Amino acid sequence: MSVYQDRRAQLMRVLGADCVAIIPTAIEQIRNKDTHFPFRPGSDFYYLTGFTEPEAVLILAPGRSEGEVILFCREHDVKAERWDGPRTGLTAAVTEFGVDQALPYAALDRYLPKLLGATRRLFYDLGAYAEFDQRMLRWIRQIRQVSRSQSAFDLLALSTHLHAMRLHKGPDELGIMRQAADISAAAQTELMRRCQPGMREYELAALFAYQCQLQGAQVLAYPSIVAGGEHACVLHYTANRSLLQDGELVLVDAGCELDGYAADITRTFPVNGRFSTLQRSLYELVLAAQAAAIAQVQVGQPWDAPHQAAVQVLTEGMLRLGLLQGNLQQALKNKTYQRFFMHRTSHWLGLDVHDVGSYEVDKEPCRLAPGMVLTIEPGLYIPPGSEGVPAHWQGIGIRIEDDVVVQADGPAVISAAVPRTVEQIEALMTAA
Ligand code: GLY
Ligand code: MN
Ligand code: MN
Repeated sequence: MSVYQDRRAQLMRVLGADCVAIIPTAIEQIRNKDTHFPFRPGSDFYYLTGFTEPEAVLILAPGRSEGEVILFCREHDVKAERWDGPRTGLTAAVTEFGVDQALPYAALDRYLPKLLGATRRLFYDLGAYAEFDQRMLRWIRQIRQVSRSQSAFDLLALSTHLHAMRLHKGPDELGIMRQAADISAAAQTELMRRCQPGMREYELAALFAYQCQLQGAQVLAYPSIVAGGEHACVLHYTANRSLLQDGELVLVDAGCELDGYAADITRTFPVNGRFSTLQRSLYELVLAAQAAAIAQVQVGQPWDAPHQAAVQVLTEGMLRLGLLQGNLQQALKNKTYQRFFMHRTSHWLGLDVHDVGSYEVDKEPCRLAPGMVLTIEPGLYIPPGSEGVPAHWQGIGIRIEDDVVVQADGPAVISAAVPRTVEQIEALMTAA
């Protein structure tokens, strides 16, 4: 509870007095007819409350005499709880979540216009939840009609401040992220152990989900990508239905979500446990690019230094292997490497897999600082039919992705437990 209270206090200090911040949780979504998608709280809301029930809104009103922190949530309802399980209710919302005041979600329409009418600065992030945006607009219209006196406030982005906080992970968050990475790493390793030619991609996907849940992760952080052979060249391949063929590689990009925090790991390994010479030469190029990128995860470095390092190594390698023509300088300048490496090397990682936090400060790449977490995920993708590329390279897609914490004493690769070198992978996969 104190972690969340501290975060709210820190945010309110930044926002200053005499303002209102409104942070709704996610809105339940119908999957079909009367079945919902599994509910997941909004990341901003969860970061500030730890509260996981739907139909909840956090209000921060620094300086408000009746209480600065209000949680709107569902009241107890014996009948509904009989069907859907227990609710926290208003009393426990105060004692267990440490807010000053808990009010019924059903009464939002009554309270919100009053709160809005009394402030001059409103922090609210438009665009996250369309339905909630609509309600906000209704409340604003309502107060303007009633007061006539042009109740006016500045509408300000909360994300500017809140996402800057979320970018720097505290010890509690890093602890959970390490666990999420451990669970995902163990599951990825199990996939290598169990993979056989003739399995279907979805068997590995199912095994990954099973292993993660067995170890306590609630859900996956994103739909797993299990891409055998040339499917690996489709960056967001999630069909996962094909046979895994002897002699091909399989790319697995999968991570669990633990207590809201994502892991995001990719390994590419031979279906039969042994790399061919060609596969190995490309794989070791991507691995070298990843090592060069990880070495750049140092406090004070621009956040894209790892990308620059990866691009340099990959481009040199592609020229050496004949995948690209010309000299290094030209290839870097004209970005010809993008034909086979078309995504960034990194993104922030946290409550969201592509986590929030700016990548720029004053139009310059932001500098790495302790507690930031980012992925390092170079890849090479050579789709079938790539003109001018020797046939033996075509249909190979490789990505190696790890999760890295920026630390004062150098990068901490929290997903390093999954075998990564050719020798490690082959040893694991061919062990009796
Ligand atoms: N799994 C999504 C990504 O690697 O960015
Ligand atoms: Mn990623
Ligand atoms: Mn990934």
